[in-house]
This record gives sequence, C-alpha cells and structure tokens, in this order.
Amino acid sequence: MTAIRRMVWLTICNLLVLTTTSISSMDYETPLMFIYNIFTEDIAVRNHTIHSEEVSSPVECFRRCAKVCGCVAFQVTGASCELLDCADRDLVIRQGTRLYTMQQTNPENKTNCLNGCCDSQPCLNGATCQESCSDVKQQYTCACSEHYHGNRCEVFQPMLKSCQAIARIRQGVVSGIYNLNVGVDKTVQTYCDFSSDDGKAWTLIESFSLGESSSYADKPFYHDLPRNENNFTWDDFRVSYQALVNIQNDSTHWRVTCNFPSGLTYSDYARASLTATDLLTFVNKDKCQRYEYVSVRGINCTDCEAMLVQRDNQHMHTDSYWSGKNGCQWDPISGAVQNEDNFGYYETTNPQHRCTANSLSTTQWWLGAEV
Ligand SMILES: *[C@@H]1O[C@H](CO)[C@@H](O)[C@H](O)[C@H]1NC(C)=O
Ligand SMILES: *[C@@H]1O[C@H](CO)[C@@H](O)[C@H](O)[C@H]1NC(C)=O
Ligand SMILES: *[C@@H]1O[C@H](CO)[C@@H](O)[C@H](O)[C@H]1NC(C)=O
Ligand SMILES: *[C@@H]1O[C@H](CO)[C@@H](O)[C@H](O)[C@H]1NC(C)=O
Ligand SMILES: *[C@@H]1O[C@H](CO)[C@@H](O)[C@H](O)[C@H]1NC(C)=O
Repeated sequence: MTAIRRMVWLTICNLLVLTTTSISSMDYETPLMFIYNIFTEDIAVRNHTIHSEEVSSPVECFRRCAKVCGCVAFQVTGASCELLDCADRDLVIRQGTRLYTMQQTNPENKTNCLNGCCDSQPCLNGATCQESCSDVKQQYTCACSEHYHGNRCEVFQPMLKSCQAIARIRQGVVSGIYNLNVGVDKTVQTYCDFSSDDGKAWTLIESFSLGESSSYADKPFYHDLPRNENNFTWDDFRVSYQALVNIQNDSTHWRVTCNFPSGLTYSDYARASLTATDLLTFVNKDKCQRYEYVSVRGINCTDCEAMLVQRDNQHMHTDSYWSGKNGCQWDPISGAVQNEDNFGYYETTNPQHRCTANSLSTTQWWLGAEV
C-alpha cells in the first residue's frame, strides 16, 4: 500500500530526489529535489549565469546545479543548460526556455552543517565564510570585515564616522569639507583638519560666530543641537548628539580655536585630553580641570589646571577672570574684563579675546586623535 501510494505520488509530481551530493570531498547534507513540472516557461534570467554546458535533459542540468555552491536555479533551452546564481532578477522573455529553481525536501537547521561551500573561498576581502544547509538558496554566508558589504563582501563602502577614520583609510587626504556617516542612512557634513597638527586629524563638531552665539549659549554638548549639519557653514554649525558620540568614540582629545578659517593661532586656543574631560558627560561649576595647553589673549599655560565650565544651561567655556581667583594655576587676569567668558557661553565678552573681537568672529570646537 505504502509503495503504491509512493509511486502514485512520484508520478503525479514527477519528483526526483537527490539525497546526498558530493561537493569536493564533503557530502552535501541537504536533500535536494527536482520537480519536472514546476518551472517558468519562456522566461530567462540574464547576466547571472555561473556556468553553461550542453545536457541531454533538464534532470542532468539539475544534477550539475546541485554540485555547484551558489547555484540556486538553472534554465534549459533545448540542449543548453545554464546554472544561475539568482532566479528573481533580470528576467527577460526568451521563447523555449524553462527556468527551474532549486528546492530541498526537508529544510535542515543544523548549526554546524558542512557542505564544502566555503572551500573555494567565495567570501572576499577578509570575510569569514560559514556553511549552511538550512536553505539551498543560501549555502554559505559571509561575515564581512569592516567597510565591506554585499553577499560576498565585494562592495567597498566604508562607514566613516570621523575625520580620523577618513585619514586612516585614505592616503594623502586634504583638509576640507567631508561627509561623515552617523548611521546607516544618516550623514553629516563637516570640516576635517588633517594639516594643522602633524600626525593628527581633527573633526569639527561646532563652529559659530559671536553674532549667532545666542543659539549656543545655553546648550552644553550633551544637548542635541544639530545646526546646519548638512549645509556646512562656519557661522552656525553643530553636529547632532549622535554624531558627537560617534566622533568622540574615535578621539582622544578636544580642542577649541578662534577664527580657524583665517589661520590657526595659539594665542586664543585650548586643548585637553578626553581622559581629563569627557565633553559629553562633564558637568562642573567653578572647578579647575587639566589642560594640555590653554591660552586666552596670549596668556598661556601648558600641562596645567585652568577653569572649565559646562552646565545644563551653559555651553562649555572657561572664565579667564575667575580662573586664578578660584585657585587654578592658570591666571590670565591681566587684561581680563570682569566675568569674561572665553570659548563659549559669551554672556560677557572681551574684544581682546580673538573669538569675541566682533560679531563676525568665530569659535570652533573639535575632537581629534593621532592617525
Ligand atoms: C546582460 O547580458 C546581455 C546579453 O545577454 C548583455 O548585452 C548586457 O551587456 C549584460 N549586462 C550586464 C550589466 O552585464
Ligand atoms: C533555524 O534556526 C534559527 C535559530 O537557531 C531560527 O532563527 C530559524 O528560524 C530556523 N530556521 C528554520 C528554517 O527552521
Ligand atoms: C545652506 O546655507 C546657505 C547659507 O549659509 C543658504 O543660503 C542655503 O539656502 C542653505 N541650503 C540648504 C539646503 O539649507
Ligand atoms: C567605539 O569604537 C569601538 C571600536 O573602536 C567600537 O567597537 C564601538 O562599538 C564604538 N562604540 C560606539 C558607541 O560607537
Ligand atoms: C606662551 O607664553 C609665553 C610667555 O608669555 C610666550 O613667550 C609664548 O610665546 C607663548 N606661547 C604661545 C604658543 O603663544
């Protein structure tokens, strides 16, 4: 009874089952089947042929396909057999062609299945290949190394989240405006400085003129304040918080400059390590912080402590008037105006500080690292 039913079923479906197939030295563990009467007629797939040869019947073409990793379908036109790496794209009408797709009897789901499909090293550019028997249409998967995409990791499309990342993968980069990846679908435009500090790359995170400073005065870096992040301008620009997180993750230092577009000078400038002060978490009232270098109106100090302030309603800045009075090493009181704010906040400004000389003067905040 069973035998009869089986035979009937076989006749109805015109089924041929290939239980194991040898690919190189391994047995392909997924049972594949060929159904004679399931095909698409007068349709062909173009530009996806991985191999073609003459055969005497469609079942011979099926057997060829079953032995080739990456063959997911085949098409037969008279005696011509073409093995295909896809069956659902680039379809064209072609009289007399029958298009078959590979099928398997019992989709297996073994975690450590071996089918030899990684032997020919199909994954490119340093990717890791993993064999799989759960889907005949995907007999291996590639885990791509950084910056590579595509089924076989053949597409080079780097996710560059900071200027430092750009400098690391491209030789001879020139300072200027670049697009950075924030996530898969989001980019920001900013200025990359590859030249002012030998061996270092700096990513601009904010730049604003004194005339536009009211938009920034009460915004610490841990507030999301995207301004013109896809339309770069030195007068009114800040990257979003998420971009800041990405850039800081790739940085070791921050710095602040005045009027950078007209040339970097060190008379009004500050630089510190992120280990000493994390821009995104730092909250401080009137305490002293470690700087690698700080200078306002030409009064500088190196590897010393100076005031640094950032609060929920105050942009990060230093107070040259209060620094010495609060007991910090750096004391630029000479030439200071009472309550003078430097590098941000700008409730009280001193035209002798280059960032606040006039309404067109600009302030830049940067994150950077050695590359
Ligand atoms: C696709 O194949 C056709 C011929 O079948 C050829 O003319 C065409 O250039 C191919 N296109 C690509 C992108 O390879
Ligand atoms: C195979 O197993 C994975 C997890 O182990 C599961 O996510 C997936 O749905 C399974 N596939 C099939 C066809 O059973
Ligand atoms: C970009 O900014 C400039 C001024 O800086 C403005 O004229 C222009 O309309 C802006 N473009 C977009 C797309 O916002
Ligand atoms: C920070 O960078 C490291 C590699 O440098 C990466 O593994 C990690 O995921 C990054 N973290 C974030 C939050 O982007
Ligand atoms: C730092 O200050 C000293 C003493 O006033 C001065 O000679 C030196 O040029 C300053 N350095 C910079 C980089 O401005």
